[in-house]
Amino acid sequence: MASSIVLFGPPGAGKGTQAGNIVAITGKPQVSTGDMLRAALVEGTALGLEAKGYMEAGQLVPDDVIIGLIEERLTQSDASDGVLFDGFPRTIAQAEALAEIADVSVVIAIEVPDGRIVDRICGRYTCNSCDAVYHDTFNPTQTPEICDHCGHTKMKRRADDNEETVRTRLAAYHEQTAPLADWYRHRDLFVAVDGDQDIDMVSASISAVL
Ligand code: AP5
Ligand code: MG
Repeated sequence: MASSIVLFGPPGAGKGTQAGNIVAITGKPQVSTGDMLRAALVEGTALGLEAKGYMEAGQLVPDDVIIGLIEERLTQSDASDGVLFDGFPRTIAQAEALAEIADVSVVIAIEVPDGRIVDRICGRYTCNSCDAVYHDTFNPTQTPEICDHCGHTKMKRRADDNEETVRTRLAAYHEQTAPLADWYRHRDLFVAVDGDQDIDMVSASISAVL
């Protein structure tokens, strides 16, 4: 079975920011459950409607919904050589389900202290066309309002990127997701990188792991 990579870390750690570099190195497609849920929300599908309340409140979407989404995604042809999971798994139940359907070669955890997270999330914006991730202060577009990657001129902000929701997301991370670190450590799959440094430095640390 081809092996997949898990990108792990709290909200705002830089998973989406680092994913492009990892895709470029490994050729594995990025599978972000957050991006998939947001796309379903925009399309107004049953999945989107079910996920909406949880996401806006900063709570995790139920495991059975997420596991079903991943099972379906992994049947697509581009996933046959493994994928880069971004934001999945987020609970022990999700990790156990994943172990049944895919082989994981490494879990790369981007570690960032809680004190940095609110500023990162509240300053985030993304390209409305290609979803490239930017930040008002830490990583702005080179020309205001023009995407560096695709030239699109419309940017968007996420509905859950506000201080109150971020605190709920952080609490969900510590209660439900952080215990996965030990789960993967016991399986010798866990590698931590310091996410509290410049974006290029984090990329270099991840490249060294890969
Ligand atoms: P999801 O979309 O996965 O959000 P998240 O995990 O909260 O993580 P983020 O996307 O907010 O952060 P990131 O680590 O990608 O950081 P980014 O690179 O953007 O999930 C959203 C919701 O969907 C969840 O709350 C839940 O409801 C639901 N959901 C999704 N998956 C689920 C699952 N498996 N189970 C259950 N529910 C699920 O960077 C953040 C900002 O910081 C950017 O502005 C960026 O420019 C900046 N930045 C990045 N790196 C640096 C750096 N090194 N220095 C300075 N700034 C930086
Ligand atoms: Mg993300």
